Amino acid sequence: MGRKSLYLLIAGVLVAYYIYTPLPDNFEEPWKLIWLNSYLKTFLHLATFVEMLGLNHFMDSLMFFMSFDEVPPTSDENVTVTETTFNNIPVRVYVPKRESEALRRGVFYIHGGGWCLGSAALSNYDLLSRCTADRLDAVVISTNYRLAPKYHFPAQFEDVYNALRWFLRQKVLAKYGVNPERICVSGDSAGGNLAAAVTQQLLHDPDVKTKLKIQSLIYPALQPLVLDSPSYQENSHYPRLYKSLMVRFWSEYFTTDRSLEKAMHSKQHIPMESSHLFKFVNWSSLLPEKFKKEHVYKNPTYGSSEMAKKYPGFLDVRAAPLLADDNNLRGLPLTYIITCQYDVLRDDGLMYVTRLQNAGVQVAHNHVEDGFHGILSTLTFKISNRLLNQYISWLSENL
Ligand SMILES: *[C@@H]1O[C@H](CO)[C@@H](O)[C@H](O)[C@H]1NC(C)=O
Ligand SMILES: *[C@@H]1O[C@H](CO)[C@@H](O)[C@H](O)[C@H]1NC(C)=O
Repeated sequence: MGRKSLYLLIAGVLVAYYIYTPLPDNFEEPWKLIWLNSYLKTFLHLATFVEMLGLNHFMDSLMFFMSFDEVPPTSDENVTVTETTFNNIPVRVYVPKRESEALRRGVFYIHGGGWCLGSAALSNYDLLSRCTADRLDAVVISTNYRLAPKYHFPAQFEDVYNALRWFLRQKVLAKYGVNPERICVSGDSAGGNLAAAVTQQLLHDPDVKTKLKIQSLIYPALQPLVLDSPSYQENSHYPRLYKSLMVRFWSEYFTTDRSLEKAMHSKQHIPMESSHLFKFVNWSSLLPEKFKKEHVYKNPTYGSSEMAKKYPGFLDVRAAPLLADDNNLRGLPLTYIITCQYDVLRDDGLMYVTRLQNAGVQVAHNHVEDGFHGILSTLTFKISNRLLNQYISWLSENL
């Protein structure tokens, strides 16, 4: 075999490898997802390689690739877009241009990216906030927050909470013409995690007089205790959130020490002293039958208490909102939850639906049968636009 054909062969194998994507049969527009996924795989491998060489942290490389997708705050014919800070946290503000006699709805949005990646400036988040402001005639605040690996829990939580508390002050709401009785906190993925966490925290904050009307949790991550629920098992290799990446995100939220990630993979991160927490994340009792399928519930395994002592954050309710007991769920606002069938985080959302309902919280659950993780932040798919329409019209009826 000549050198040329050898190179051709290698190139062919590589292309096939990057394009190969396991997908469910019923998937609409598979080629679009395969294309997107081959990008993702390439970036993940490059970032892994650069990290192996000791040149840059995995997440910093991914953040660098993503930064090309950021857009400036540009107003359009319908929405004025500006940047400012709330309590020193940078936020993007979207205000509809059309005249309004009445006070507007307010949406406080928290982007996803595994507590490590992303920003309000990413083109897809910018588009989502713009659409929300325009179609809902709402003031949208899209917040940033400090990210891992530079900053760990609770920095992300605290930034979001501080920006939200700033927004909820009478003076600020009045400045933007927002009706204090029509405010929603919304976020996707890690942003859904932060949305659930700050909404819980607000319940017990005597300094904040404004009450949220709605929390909207879009395929949220809600707990790092059980990383082998049926949805983790079924979807661990589906785009766009592999189990391996999700476990890395979880561990990076608390530390750059990779031993936590290892312990999470081998289910050795929870100490025996915390066994009482498993009832809050028990998929066997909390998932509806149809999602359990042939999966067999195994009792939790425990490790030494070393991890939890060093990194107590992963057992903290501000990082794992599913760990709140019923008393701390009671009184939460009307909740909208989106879950996707082909998503490792599906069961986190499903379990929260059950837990909230058991605590008497009103829940509207939108399960997307052919959905995959991240559909609402990639508005190029037909399914994404359908979901966006559902999300906006639910908000327009209920907020
Ligand atoms: C602005 O609103 C009009 C009327 O709803 C719509 O047709 C147009 O596409 C909007 N422009 C942008 C940039 O979204
Ligand atoms: C989980 O729920 C099942 C019943 O659905 C029960 O048998 C099991 O003991 C529970 N495990 C824990 C750790 O709560």
